[in-house]
Amino acid sequence: MRNEISQKTASEYEYKATAAGRVNIIGEHVDYCGGKVFPAALSLKNTVYVRKNGTNTVNVRWTTLDKTVALDIDRLDEYRSLDYGNYIAGSLAMWKKAGHPIIGCDMLHDCTVPFGSGLSSSAAIEVSTIAAMCAVTDTPVDNVKIALEAQRAEREYIGVNCGIMDQYASACGKAGQAMLLDCSTLGVEYVPIDTGDHTLVIIDCKKPHSLVESKYNERRVETETALRILKPVTGINELAELDGETLEKHKALLSPVVYKRAKHVVDECVRVNKAADAMKRGDMVALGKLLNESHRSLAELYEVTGRELDALAAAAQSHPACAGSRMTGGGFGGSTVSLVKTDGLDAFKAHVLSEYKKATGYAAEIYEASIADGITVEKA
Ligand code: GLA
Repeated sequence: MRNEISQKTASEYEYKATAAGRVNIIGEHVDYCGGKVFPAALSLKNTVYVRKNGTNTVNVRWTTLDKTVALDIDRLDEYRSLDYGNYIAGSLAMWKKAGHPIIGCDMLHDCTVPFGSGLSSSAAIEVSTIAAMCAVTDTPVDNVKIALEAQRAEREYIGVNCGIMDQYASACGKAGQAMLLDCSTLGVEYVPIDTGDHTLVIIDCKKPHSLVESKYNERRVETETALRILKPVTGINELAELDGETLEKHKALLSPVVYKRAKHVVDECVRVNKAADAMKRGDMVALGKLLNESHRSLAELYEVTGRELDALAAAAQSHPACAGSRMTGGGFGGSTVSLVKTDGLDAFKAHVLSEYKKATGYAAEIYEASIADGITVEKA
């Protein structure tokens, strides 16, 4: 249960810093291969209320938990196995390592990104924690720098060898816009999300997660293997630079599994550019088809979907109002994103919930969210 924050409680703090959850429209499992991704920040977010406390301790409380965790700012490296607070300690540890000031303060965290939903609650927590520390130390907020240190926390402190997509979207998102982010250069083009008579719908398959981190890291190793083998014969520096023809030419060098992973990356990179073009010209039919193709590739070539996400995407794709549907995020559970004709939305939702329940026994959850800003900082 989440306790709402009263005006009175909020006014006991100096600042309120927020960072967003994200939905990835397309471009899955290509960020760590130097590819382009197409995410957007969500109105589901983590908010940190913060005030200096004049000590060497960061005291953390949550609106969802009845406990306080005390983090010694001189021992931030020591909280890796802390159930609650490890993401916060990790972000502060990396921010400190990068040479930024850390001071004792009280933080109240209020997260509306559902945990395990595949919508990057962890990035929202990491990014907003650093933004809150910037606020109390009068450090100018540099969104990209914060995203990079938050990513480092996830990789070096939490142990998930993630790409930059989640933290970047969480920090740098803009209301009403998707980001066409080149993960190799961090160059970004903001593209208005103009879906015309269609609506983006996010649905959580509600499957309890398991082994997500180890499977994620395993996929990374497989793509690194592909790069290691193909680099000397093709001259590429990142897997996303590979084109389909060259991959086919050197297919025999790769094991069947590594070939499948590489093929997903190559095809998905092509789809991202096509999807951004479709969004720009308002072609929802084309965009929807690309979503369907992406899901299929993630299921068959990259093998990160699983029974539940496949059933959820299939239920969505089988409804006439749906232009396309795919899993979003890391996979192995979490959510789908679907492009649905707005006038058929209610029928679509009812259909998906009932078909999915029939297929898996789980009750899926539909989230109401809009496309919102990344980091915000204001007086509490
Ligand atoms: C997770 C990671 C991201 C990205 C996606 C898959 O969300 O944190 O970096 O790799 O999976 O696209």
